[in-house]
Amino acid sequence: MKIGILGTGDVGQTIGAKLVDIGHQVMLGSRSKVHEGASDWARQVGEGASVGTFEDAARFGELMFCCVGGAHALAVIDAAGADNLADKILIDVSNPLDFSHGFPPVLAITGTDSLGERIQAALPRTRVVKTLNTVANSVMVNPGMFGEPTALFVSANDASAKAEVIKHLNDWFGWNGVIDLGDITSARGTEAWLLLWTRLYGALGTGDFNIRLVKKSEAKPET
Ligand SMILES: NC(=O)c1ccc[n+]([C@@H]2O[C@H](COP(=O)([O-])OP(=O)(O)OC[C@H]3O[C@@H](n4cnc5c(N)ncnc54)[C@H](OP(=O)(O)O)[C@@H]3O)[C@@H](O)[C@H]2O)c1
Repeated sequence: MKIGILGTGDVGQTIGAKLVDIGHQVMLGSRSKVHEGASDWARQVGEGASVGTFEDAARFGELMFCCVGGAHALAVIDAAGADNLADKILIDVSNPLDFSHGFPPVLAITGTDSLGERIQAALPRTRVVKTLNTVANSVMVNPGMFGEPTALFVSANDASAKAEVIKHLNDWFGWNGVIDLGDITSARGTEAWLLLWTRLYGALGTGDFNIRLVKKSEAKPET
């Protein structure tokens, strides 16, 4: 599959390298045609990896990822072009983190709104699926590192897009038991998790962790 990734940071590069490794063609999009970091990435990853502008990547991808800092996500989507993103799934990995006061960051969007909702509202012809934003990029593509199942969530308005992304998460990266939180408004919860995630990162000194949900078993009827 041809996959376009908006973003040349750690997340875009990590997801992109994994997708090329398993046989997909990936274009990373950036602000300019010439991007040193992304060009180095493409050289290292090899055949199947390419680099372009945000607009180039949006034209290229049959399926898209949004992997840019939350403060720039809406401007990047605008640069990518709503027409180029129409009728496609956009997997939104971004978080609305505001580092202007240092670490830990605060949320720039919170309460009765989320970045996922703003992206979906800006792209009414695109099926936005929020996922992977609750874990570090190393964990996104290698949940098997824990040796036991851990939790990942999806939020989206479109049920078929959600089902397709859940299948991709399993086939591409090995995520099992992904939890469907409901429509895109449920991104408010996963984005707010970053307030605790960043504190855990500070306390543990690594991003290689995740949560595991434990639910009380249903009482079994006596036979
Ligand atoms: N890092 C993680 O492990 C992790 C985990 C979960 C979620 N996330 C979320 O994933 C997203 C990407 O994170 P990241 O660490 O890979 O990268 P990042 O540094 O947050 O974003 C890099 C991208 O932002 C673009 N950018 C920077 N300034 C811009 C501006 N003024 N206007 C337009 N675009 C601009 C860069 O463009 P150029 O390509 O032109 O340089 C680049 O493509 C973030 O929202 C983050 O919260 C990150």
